[in-house]
Amino acid sequence: MASFGDSVKNFFSGSDNVESLRELFLEELRDIYYAENKLVNTLPAMAEAATTNDLKTAITRHLEETRGHVRRLEQVFSSINETPSEVTCEAMKGLLEEGNELIDETIEGTLTRDAGIIIASQKVEHYEIAAYGSLRTLARLLGYETAASLLAQTLQEEKNADTLLTDIAESFVNQRALAE
Ligand SMILES: [Fe+2]
Ligand SMILES: [Fe+2]
Repeated sequence: MASFGDSVKNFFSGSDNVESLRELFLEELRDIYYAENKLVNTLPAMAEAATTNDLKTAITRHLEETRGHVRRLEQVFSSINETPSEVTCEAMKGLLEEGNELIDETIEGTLTRDAGIIIASQKVEHYEIAAYGSLRTLARLLGYETAASLLAQTLQEEKNADTLLTDIAESFVNQRALAE
């Protein structure tokens, strides 16, 4: 049975395939660059809308990391001699619109509001985890080692952010159980 590695070797026997893979990598890079910039603009309002200090702090810290993600992506672009540019990421646009709807539909100062923000935020983190995981693999396939290691660093921060959100949600459950 042919392994994934074998099929990759076959792909690379034609040089036009390397070009199309690089194009796909760039397209995905521009997509997540748009998404991260959009997050930098959106996260302050999410932190503001949150009820508990735990969630406000988590979002504010991840906002700082997200600014770092933007800078890291700029380093990725420059590591392969490309100028940073964006393409609209419809998925992130949609996720953030849904997040705004959840904020509109919940009452300020309630735990329901925080639950809504955590759901919306984890959907965003999972999107980013998928995007960075794929980008890192593409970078490795293309032999872009610097890019791959930069992307891996952001991937880890996205995973940590996701875990922290789960921890906050679970702490609500525990506090609730204690109160009963
Ligand atoms: Fe990010
Ligand atoms: Fe993130």
